[in-house]
Amino acid sequence: MAELRIAVIGAGIIGGTHMASLEKVEGMSLSAIVDPTDAAAEVAAARGVPHLRDVEELIASGLADGAIVATPNETHVPIGEALLRAGIPALVEKPVANSIDEGERLLKTVEETGVPLLVGHHRRHNPMIRAVRAAIDDGSFGRLVTANVIATMAKPAFYFDVKWRIAERTGGPLLINMIHEIDMLRFFFGEVAQVTGRVSNEFRGNPVEDIAAAILNFRQGGIATLTVTDAGCGPWSYDLSSGESPRLPRHDISAHLYAGTKAGISLPDASFWTYPGTPDWAVEMQRGKLDFTPADPFPLQMAHFGAVIRGEEKPRVSCADGVANMHVIAAIKQSAAEGRPVDL
Ligand SMILES: NC(=O)c1ccc[n+]([C@@H]2O[C@H](COP(=O)([O-])OP(=O)(O)OC[C@H]3O[C@@H](n4cnc5c(N)ncnc54)[C@H](O)[C@@H]3O)[C@@H](O)[C@H]2O)c1
Repeated sequence: MAELRIAVIGAGIIGGTHMASLEKVEGMSLSAIVDPTDAAAEVAAARGVPHLRDVEELIASGLADGAIVATPNETHVPIGEALLRAGIPALVEKPVANSIDEGERLLKTVEETGVPLLVGHHRRHNPMIRAVRAAIDDGSFGRLVTANVIATMAKPAFYFDVKWRIAERTGGPLLINMIHEIDMLRFFFGEVAQVTGRVSNEFRGNPVEDIAAAILNFRQGGIATLTVTDAGCGPWSYDLSSGESPRLPRHDISAHLYAGTKAGISLPDASFWTYPGTPDWAVEMQRGKLDFTPADPFPLQMAHFGAVIRGEEKPRVSCADGVANMHVIAAIKQSAAEGRPVDL
């Protein structure tokens, strides 16, 4: 089968991760870099691929069987729409859009064109996350009852020199980080029915939150609590313990705790907790391990994108998923602003 030619639009941090992933996946290769900067021209020269200035040039070039949109949030929808209208399948980074209205517009374009779009919530491709989902499906947990999720990240001052990271519609740890946790929780529990949120910017004083807490009630039952901060010290976050990001250290802790009616699990250490008989808090629980083979989710996401382009698989994280995750984040902010729970 002919090799799939993949263009990377946006040669920044995550664009670089996608380029590295392309090298690890058979049957796919980098065909062009689309980014107006001189730095991107150097990256393209170093990788021996054409350097193009914008998505229109890419479409005219005919160089892409698929394209990855790794640009700032506000460009995801215009670039995504241009690709879909040109019949080019897209892997669009999270958050899928800059606003819910734009996200809904993109979703409509996916439906109108029938061209597939995958959203870059890469954790869903992690074999550990897929093993948890499989264990939910085979009844190993019983029904999921609660989740406790924490994301503590001490981001350095220079991180906030980049304007979009502190701008209201684009920045803040809810949209930058917690949206991945929301995607995981929706993957495990299903859709969210009601959200209660609290946010504060008391530590950094930026226009966006530096702490947030949320309670999610799920339609099929179960409650999750989440806290996130980019101003507190502590290793308790999935990003600082899963080893998924080559840019971040890995600490031996867990940041997600899930309790079901039959068993519990902590992630990412994947300890699987069961009772020897009928559940009874007076009996010591047994600690096992979830069975899976660890692997980097980014190349797996890329291989899945290849299968999506070839029409062999449907996007595991659809545009509708990306928009649903944004609805939950918006509801957390709305609940915090209005001081009341918000129904979804
Ligand atoms: N999945 C993840 O875990 C993950 C991690 C980091 C970033 N992201 C997402 O990826 C996106 C990019 O983030 P980043 O940290 O790599 O940003 P970045 O600033 O490092 O890189 C963005 C690049 O896009 C280029 N660009 C800007 N406008 C463009 C346009 N119209 N056409 C082509 N190129 C353009 C810029 O020149 C820059 O090189 C964001 O939406 C972010 O939320 C996702």
